[in-house]
Amino acid sequence: MKTPSNITVVGLGYVGLPLALAFAAELHTTGFDNDVSRVEQLQAGNDRNREVDGLSISSSELILTSGDSCVTDADFIVVTVPTPVTEDSQPDLSLLESASEMIGKRLRERSRDISIPIIVFESTTYPGCTEDFCGPIIERESGLKSGDGFLLGYSPERTNFGDVDHTLETVVKVVSGQTKEAARVISDVYLRIAKAGVHMAPNIKTAEASKVIENVQRDLNIALFNESAMIFDRMGIKSSEVFDAAGTKWNFHRYQPGLVGGHCIPVDPYYLTYAAEQVDYVADVILAGRSVNEGMVQQVSDKIQSLVIESGAYVRDSDVLVLGQTFKNDVADFRNSKVIGLTEILRCMFRTTTSFDPYAEGSEGNRNPVGGSRKYGAVVLAVGHSEFINSVDDIISLVESGGVLVDLTGTIDGAQAMDSKITFWRL
Ligand SMILES: NC(=O)c1ccc[n+]([C@@H]2O[C@H](COP(=O)([O-])OP(=O)(O)OC[C@H]3O[C@@H](n4cnc5c(N)ncnc54)[C@H](O)[C@@H]3O)[C@@H](O)[C@H]2O)c1
Repeated sequence: MKTPSNITVVGLGYVGLPLALAFAAELHTTGFDNDVSRVEQLQAGNDRNREVDGLSISSSELILTSGDSCVTDADFIVVTVPTPVTEDSQPDLSLLESASEMIGKRLRERSRDISIPIIVFESTTYPGCTEDFCGPIIERESGLKSGDGFLLGYSPERTNFGDVDHTLETVVKVVSGQTKEAARVISDVYLRIAKAGVHMAPNIKTAEASKVIENVQRDLNIALFNESAMIFDRMGIKSSEVFDAAGTKWNFHRYQPGLVGGHCIPVDPYYLTYAAEQVDYVADVILAGRSVNEGMVQQVSDKIQSLVIESGAYVRDSDVLVLGQTFKNDVADFRNSKVIGLTEILRCMFRTTTSFDPYAEGSEGNRNPVGGSRKYGAVVLAVGHSEFINSVDDIISLVESGGVLVDLTGTIDGAQAMDSKITFWRL
């Protein structure tokens, strides 16, 4: 098989844009997104996710388009569309379905004289989805046979956005292909951009499973720490001090308890539990972890309420400030952020609820209270944005004398807060 020379990336979001830019530095690459406004913004050098700077976009050879005709002649198509869950926590494959339909329709127009196209899915999904769900849709729409007229592959995205140490360049990329030859070509193409190397999984299902289990493991570990933190708190023991002590054992793995939001960790486990059901297995442990983590917003809001009451104040007469609204620190991603839900609950309890996130710039009323003169009966550090972590003293000074400071990020040193006349509680 010829080495591909014409790449199209379908979906230019958090995953697709950096990937397309990396490919464009090596090979002729087109980035296609069906959101016209997203493409127009990118063409103007503006990434609303604040992941890539304007110069990196404008100086790149990447062709940006909202028209899907680029797919017809592409010999290497990478799909990075979202894979959310429905309201009842079932995989929502509608975007994978429409992307596969579009690819199939475009491949129908492709000349048979050019090379066999390879379609690599990067969207997180359950084992079997690429070959049993996407493949047949592409077959139906293209009139081509999977494994013959086109070849499938899967390569999960595993970089950690907002984390400068774990990037496309530094993290080993798992790759897989429908045939040995497809896997070899896919591996060669990814080796151009995955400078830390590739790991060739024996088949597509294994690569798909490897991605979900990575996030299941993280979800479960956080659930264990959340549950332990709640148990120790009821016993009057500081969980962080327990974890400090336990962490001195060589095989104790420490995690930070917290609210599990976003579109990966709280979503991906449901792809595996769904697939488990298809083979008559109820994934009790995975579902229990989900349930613990989903319950944390209520646990934390109850705790904040009781801390205010214990401090001698009336919650209804108190003002609360919530610092941070994104689902994790130092990213402009508000999707499925549990802090937003927590803020809504607090809004029903307190006299006034103020929230601020530096990444929500431009929105009405989103003024930075840190450094200001207004004081609050309760301040909740909900997201560990660097901007907050670098201003801990200013954050402490926002709390009224006798008020409550709650740290959900585990970054404020208790001794720092203890010096002032406030109640400090850390998850
Ligand atoms: N964001 C992360 O941290 C991360 C990490 C690992 C894996 N993933 C997985 O990668 C996938 C993509 O996630 P994301 O965060 O980049 O999503 P995103 O929402 O940031 O971006 C997806 C893009 O795809 C576009 N799109 C949707 N349907 C399309 C179609 N039919 N044709 C063309 N464009 C289309 C959307 O307009 C959007 O710009 C998901 O499966 C996600 O679970 C995400």
